[in-house]
Amino acid sequence: MNYEDVSDVGDREAVREMLLGSGYSEKAIDYYLERANMGSLSDADQVTELTGPCGDTMKIYLKVEEGRIQDARIQVLGCPGAVAAAMAAMDLAKGKTLEEALEITDRDIFRVLEELPEQKIHCIRLAVKTLEKAVNEYLSEGGVKETEDHHATV
Ligand code: FES
Repeated sequence: MNYEDVSDVGDREAVREMLLGSGYSEKAIDYYLERANMGSLSDADQVTELTGPCGDTMKIYLKVEEGRIQDARIQVLGCPGAVAAAMAAMDLAKGKTLEEALEITDRDIFRVLEELPEQKIHCIRLAVKTLEKAVNEYLSEGGVKETEDHHATV
């Protein structure tokens, strides 16, 4: 089955069943299927990419105004756990100040997702580290530049 093609209702239900059977909560599966925060922002103030040790990659786009994250999107090349964690991370980041966004923890995201398979817990780490890197780069460089780091340890 192609996990990226979940537009068909039948496919979505089949994917949901499969993920439920693997240990994902309904909430996490909703995040994975809806992908509300997936994508880019053409007027982003900060674009930051990070690749985890598993090889999965996230790319965050932040719109920042007066020290507050007005909007956030993320592109994810990764597993269902990575997609769900990334979507939840963007929901948590939106509306927060940059300092508050830096305080978002793995536990905060896990609380939103409710349940993930044991071997997918680390996917949350990648979302948190990518957000942290984006905010830190914005704070230290004033935003705009796009960066890549394929050797990061998360
Ligand atoms: Fe890499 Fe999920 S396996 S983030």
